[in-house]
Amino acid sequence: MLKRIVSIFLIALLAPVAAFAADTAQVTSPDGKLSVSVMTENGRLYYAVARDGKSVLDPSQLGFRLSEQKGFEKGLEITATDTSTFDETWEQPWGERHFVRNHYNQLSVAVAEVDGAKRHLNVVFRVYDDGIGFRYDVPADGGFGAIGITDEITEFAFAEEATVWWIPARWWNRYEYIYNETRLHQVPLAHTPITMRRDDGLHISIHEAALTNYSGMSLLKKHGTTFEADLAPGPDGIKVQLDGAFVTPWRTLQITESATGLLDSNLILNLNEPNKLGDVSWVKPGKYVGIWWGMHLAVETWGSGPKHGATTANTKRYIDFAAKNGFDGVLVEGWNEGWDGDWFNNGDVFNFTKPYPDYNLTELGKYARDRGVRIVGHHETSGSVTNYENQMADSFELLAKNGVAQVKTGYVAHGGDIKRLDENGNAIFEWHDGQFMSEHHKRVLIEAAKHKIAINSHEPIKDTGLRRTYPNWIAREGARGQEYNAWGSPGNPPSHTAVLPYTRMLSGPMDFTPGIFDLLFEEEQPNDRVRTTLAKQLSLYVVLYSPIQMAADLPENYEARMDAFQFIRDVPTDWETSIALNGEIGDFVTFARKERGGDDWFLGSLTNEEGRTLEVSLDFLDAGRSYTAEIYRDGDDADWDTNPYAMVIEKKTVTAADKMALRLAPGGGMAVRFTSAN
Ligand code: NOJ
Ligand code: CA
Repeated sequence: MLKRIVSIFLIALLAPVAAFAADTAQVTSPDGKLSVSVMTENGRLYYAVARDGKSVLDPSQLGFRLSEQKGFEKGLEITATDTSTFDETWEQPWGERHFVRNHYNQLSVAVAEVDGAKRHLNVVFRVYDDGIGFRYDVPADGGFGAIGITDEITEFAFAEEATVWWIPARWWNRYEYIYNETRLHQVPLAHTPITMRRDDGLHISIHEAALTNYSGMSLLKKHGTTFEADLAPGPDGIKVQLDGAFVTPWRTLQITESATGLLDSNLILNLNEPNKLGDVSWVKPGKYVGIWWGMHLAVETWGSGPKHGATTANTKRYIDFAAKNGFDGVLVEGWNEGWDGDWFNNGDVFNFTKPYPDYNLTELGKYARDRGVRIVGHHETSGSVTNYENQMADSFELLAKNGVAQVKTGYVAHGGDIKRLDENGNAIFEWHDGQFMSEHHKRVLIEAAKHKIAINSHEPIKDTGLRRTYPNWIAREGARGQEYNAWGSPGNPPSHTAVLPYTRMLSGPMDFTPGIFDLLFEEEQPNDRVRTTLAKQLSLYVVLYSPIQMAADLPENYEARMDAFQFIRDVPTDWETSIALNGEIGDFVTFARKERGGDDWFLGSLTNEEGRTLEVSLDFLDAGRSYTAEIYRDGDDADWDTNPYAMVIEKKTVTAADKMALRLAPGGGMAVRFTSAN
């Protein structure tokens, strides 16, 4: 049945609806609610967005300023427009849902200079029921030639004030900030996704899709509630250098009535190109443990010495634990030489093919393989990118030979401190989200793919949905993860994971590394702690989507709570479908997800510092079946602050006709597995 529906949808419709020349053009979403208008006034080009006839963006300018030639911003006219409609359903190799419908109306606007060189380009708008994407498309004969973009002047003139969740851009800590909640006019310069709720309840999230060979876009306030695209600069101040035909990333607005509407949107993925890697059956979702948290708790070290974590014996212990509990991978950090000394300030010390003498790569590869487990490789570059690019092919080859199918990369360097060498060997410094890094990550993915290796990048460039095009980009960090809870910096507040789904997670999967069971670690770091209940740690496996999920804590902490650990052993990381059941930004969220290739459903729900009871209908379950719900919930007197471990594990028989009350403690959460009884 499903197959038939899909094959019907696969008949892509690309039929022209209208073609006319005018200086105002319009296109609406398939459901007719969203509309985009494009027009010129006094030779400047503008677009505007409305929903149900109410303005979302007032006329907002489009164009570029360029280094060696006149900007493309004045003296412009619309020379032609073309509209079409598209509807297809495509299949994800892995994902939060198996099938994705891509249904939009498109308006392509040809814009040219009235006089002079008559340079010209197209601006292409795709309007979905849940938002829009648009990009500049410069043809080979556009008359631009080699250009340096000094400013993309794309504006976002928000029609109304709103409450906004945002993190600062172009600053030292990359994307790793606690989210600010302010009014729109108070945002100075923010990363995307940036998400807002207007006072009339409309939700808007601005981001971009398919960021390749271009600089990442941030939003810079111009005045009031009017913002402008602000691109990460290259080392010479020029934002983007291009020659000949090019397309920019899609500038995206997800626009929905409810907060959960954002969570169900596939707009970012849909605006990316299909898989370019061919057969990617070797990219495997799964769960992993690793030699990792011990270093963050400072009881083990990355570098050599008596506390070295990545020893052969310790890795075997982790492999045994992984094999016994059904995990796919064991991450080993600190396996290669370079960690002794000042690696943070000099990433050139890293050697990616030379294991420490107390780490036997070949023996461990075999030991893991014999037990059905794989080592997960680690490449911390510390932002020394040329040093890494020179070695990555050899390292991927070496690791692949030893059974590694996944590598976690890292770019620990302050914003603007990515180091590369130019042709003459001079050091040049780049931003994590500049044009150079967007190309670097692509080079890593393509090289890794040759060795059937998937990449999980930490301190990455932001996600813009490129996992569709390069399905071996299996996850990334790009936000404050669990690690901050060990660092006393301070740790993540309870609201953090109630903001992430509506902001960072709209861009794609995150390697947050959930599952800390020893929440207080009084012996290791008495001044720090995790600010959640135990049940909330379990809920993160369902709420924060990633095809790879770590069980981040030390094996002995799981062995002490095998009852709670059972949920982590059971929860899958690849889904047939996902549904956002309820939620409000920064307050709470509930997801139901059905496993891919099985009948079980899983539910995860979490709250910020406020306790609350949410009632959900179980009508997502298959009708006519009876399920056993294995419930992991906060105890009645649980509280993240005073009583974080209180948890009840209970079983109930339920059907799709039932409702379930989710009682969440302050800073709490709930996780449920529904197994079909028939
Ligand atoms: C930062 C990463 O996020 C963390 O997971 C890793 O352990 C360290 N860098 C060292 O590479
Ligand atoms: Ca990090």
